[in-house]
Parts: sequence; C-alpha cells; structure tokens
Amino acid sequence: MQFPAEPFKIKVVEPINRTTREERAKLIEEAGFNVFAIPAEKIMIDLLTDSGTSAMSDNQWAGMMIGDESYAGSRNYFHFEKTIKSIFGFKNVIPTHQGRVAENLLFSVMLKPGDVVPNNIHFDTTRANVEHKGGQPLDLVIDEGLDPTYDHPFKGNMDIEKLKNAIRKYGKERIPLVMLTVTNNSGGGQPVSMENIRQVSRTVKKHGIPLFFDACRFAENCYFIKQREQGYRDKSISDVALEMFSYADGCTMSAKKDGLVNMGGFLGVNDDRIAQNITNLLILMEGFPTYGGLSGRDLEAVARGLKEVLNIDYLHYRVSQVRYLGDLLTKAGVPIVKPTGGHAVYLNAKEFLPHIPQEQFPGQALTVSLYREAGIRAVEIGSLMFAHKDAETGKMIYPELELVRLAIPRRVYTMQHINYVAGAIVEIFKSRDKIRGLQIIYEAPVLRHFTAKLKEI
Ligand code: F0G
Repeated sequence: MQFPAEPFKIKVVEPINRTTREERAKLIEEAGFNVFAIPAEKIMIDLLTDSGTSAMSDNQWAGMMIGDESYAGSRNYFHFEKTIKSIFGFKNVIPTHQGRVAENLLFSVMLKPGDVVPNNIHFDTTRANVEHKGGQPLDLVIDEGLDPTYDHPFKGNMDIEKLKNAIRKYGKERIPLVMLTVTNNSGGGQPVSMENIRQVSRTVKKHGIPLFFDACRFAENCYFIKQREQGYRDKSISDVALEMFSYADGCTMSAKKDGLVNMGGFLGVNDDRIAQNITNLLILMEGFPTYGGLSGRDLEAVARGLKEVLNIDYLHYRVSQVRYLGDLLTKAGVPIVKPTGGHAVYLNAKEFLPHIPQEQFPGQALTVSLYREAGIRAVEIGSLMFAHKDAETGKMIYPELELVRLAIPRRVYTMQHINYVAGAIVEIFKSRDKIRGLQIIYEAPVLRHFTAKLKEI
C-alpha cells in the first residue's frame, strides 16, 4: 500500500525521553503492572489513547487567542453551536467538558432503574453510566463483529434481529433509547454502514424509541462509508455526516477524538423538552449553557477542529496510517483484529499469548511487555476491563474479545514512529512464550482497569 505523506508540516515539537529496559522494568513493577500508573514522561511512544492527545493546528491555536471568556453568551459558543448544527444537524447543542458527562446527563434525564439500553457495543464509560442510573447495557453488534479474524467492511453494525428480539423481550417501555457507537471502539474501531443505520432507525422509529449516536469518531466512520459503501464515493464527508445524523434524535460526543482537541464535548438533541431537562442539570454539574465546563478558547478550538476533521486528505492520511501499522504486523504474522479500524490497531491477545488463560489477563500481560521491552504504552481491552461476576450465579464472566489497543493519536506520530512500534512488536512476538500472566492485588468496584494493581505470576 502507498502510505500518503503527512498532509501537514511540523511547526512545534516536543522531545521524547529515552529510558532503558532496566528503568522500565522497575517502573512497571512500581506501577502495579498497570500502565495507567506510569508517568507519561517515561513513555517513548504513547498509544494509550487517541482521546485528547491530538496535535492542534496553527488555526486552532490562533482561535484560542480570540477566546471570549464571558460567563454568558461568549461569541465562541455561538461559533461552536453554529458549526455543530451545520455538521450534525441537531436542533439543540449543549456543551460539556468531555464525552462521559454528556452520557451522564443524557442517562440522568432519560433512564429509570430497570431500563435497558442497546448499543452495538457500549464503550466502558457509557456502560458504567448506564449502570450508574440502574440501567442494563446491552451489546447487540453483529456476530462477525466479535470474530477478530473475520474481514467485514462494517463490523460495527448492529444485528437487527437481536435488536428486534430485545424490543420484544423488554418492551419499548423499558428501552428509553437505543445507541450506536461510530466507530465501534470496543469492537476494534469498526464502522457502521449507512444501510445499517437506516435499518436501526427504521426499527426503533416503529416503536417510538429514540436513537442516539455515540459520535466520538463520526468523521472516521463517514470516511469508511465513503470508501466502502455503494453510492457514497462522490459524496463529501460532510454530506455523509449530515445524512448519518439525520436518522438520529441526538448524540453524545467526546470532541477529544474527532473534534481534534485536548478537552471538550457536547450533546446534540432534537427534542426541546429533553434538551431543557439536560440543560437544567448541566447548570448544576458543568456550568452555564453557553460554556458547559469549557472556556471560550476551548469552544473555539472545538469549532475549528470539527471543520478540519472533515478534510478528506486528513482522513485519508489518518486511516491509512492506522492501516499501515496493521499491515506491517500482519506481514510478520502478528495476530490483529481485521480489518484495521479508524483509530487503532488491536492486537488479539488470546492468540498472541495462547499459554496465558483469560483469568491471568493475557491482554494486560501484553501491555506490560510492550512497555518493558519498548517503552510503548497501549491499553488492555479485555478481561481486566470487562470481566465481572454474574449477579445471579457469582461466576466470573469473561469477555469474548481479549484485545490490546494501539490507539494512534491524531497528527502526532510520524511514519518512522510507526515503523519503530511495528518492529518492536514483531520482536516481542518472536519471544512471546516468555511473557507471564498476572494476578490482581487491588481493584476498585467500578472501572477497575484504571487503578488496579497486579503482580506477575
Ligand atoms: N464513547 C466512546 C466510544 C469513547 O471511546 C469514549 C472515550 C467515550 C465515549 C468517553 O469520552 O473520554 O471524553 O469522557 N474513549 C477514550 C478511549 C477514553 O481511550 O477510547 P470522554
């Protein structure tokens, strides 16, 4: 594959510190074998997340200098609101400081205990926010979406039969909304097709159930639709986005992804009554409706970032860089989720480390090895993040997928950085039988992967 040249020049640089293997071995042990506890300065290539880690453009930085920090009615809010309406088409725009607050506000207003919220696959904060309100999250992705080796252009699609069954089983009274995560982060950054979006929308509309997008990576999803779905090749990304969101009643958004900013988010919603109720809570939790936890300059950076992310040269480069890493690994026989998604390459830890059983956290063991051997920080998306006790039987339930995500920050690393990462992983793969499993010595009651402490077995 021809990898396109970076469609930007580098104007500001940040040095990367070198560390030795000995230093890293000590640091990871002190961190309880959890890479979240490693100081970022001790990381060489940080692929922990693509969230809030983007490099902003000169245009965004220039925008920050004209931040209007008025408490109410900042001009940057109006730019933010106008931009979001023009791209997403929702009637009401409610700023929040990041995505999970948007989720919390939405579920606070729409959920009652005992409700069920279907999604293709809930991201961990979405799942936790549903549960926090006494709801039950349901993952209804197509079966192909759970098979890491199955090559399918839209592995993020929701299974319409599963959705119909859920509606039959729980009734529309217990399903206050259905969500679709674009792209489907927990399933490998896989896109949802326009055809599937249309079918989901048609199905829920029949029952009067609102549809909301978890829109963090909407532009990457639109790029895949343009590339892979019939009838979209000649459409602009913004035309694809407008059509996609026209099927929904609202969205939650973490602008830390496709907003190309370090902090920011929002809710889009058509229904005025829902918007009103959310706004009332917003004032209590985040701030006045024209800033919602963000400063004026942040709102301006989001408005400008959302326009930049629609640029086809940017998106082509972005998705190609992710695929380039995936191709290098595949060529060397390293098991990854196929096809590569929009923002990350996912290592299949079950296959990478077949000698480590799931109760010994093979995904986490692989993140430990990536850090210790090469200074690369990745994140486990497997049993440490998702395994839980069944409420009735008390038995541990392990997730289908045991993955390690190499999330690529936007506009941050060059091709040579990617070559370094691929080379290091191939070396680790060659001596994978030396990697040992882990055991938990501390865990928090919710979202345990962030703060868990482990030891090597
Ligand atoms: N939804 C999805 C699909 C996400 O990937 C994230 C964050 C959120 C919601 C929450 O947004 O962080 O702004 O509160 N994902 C990050 C990640 C943390 O690393 O994938 P937030």
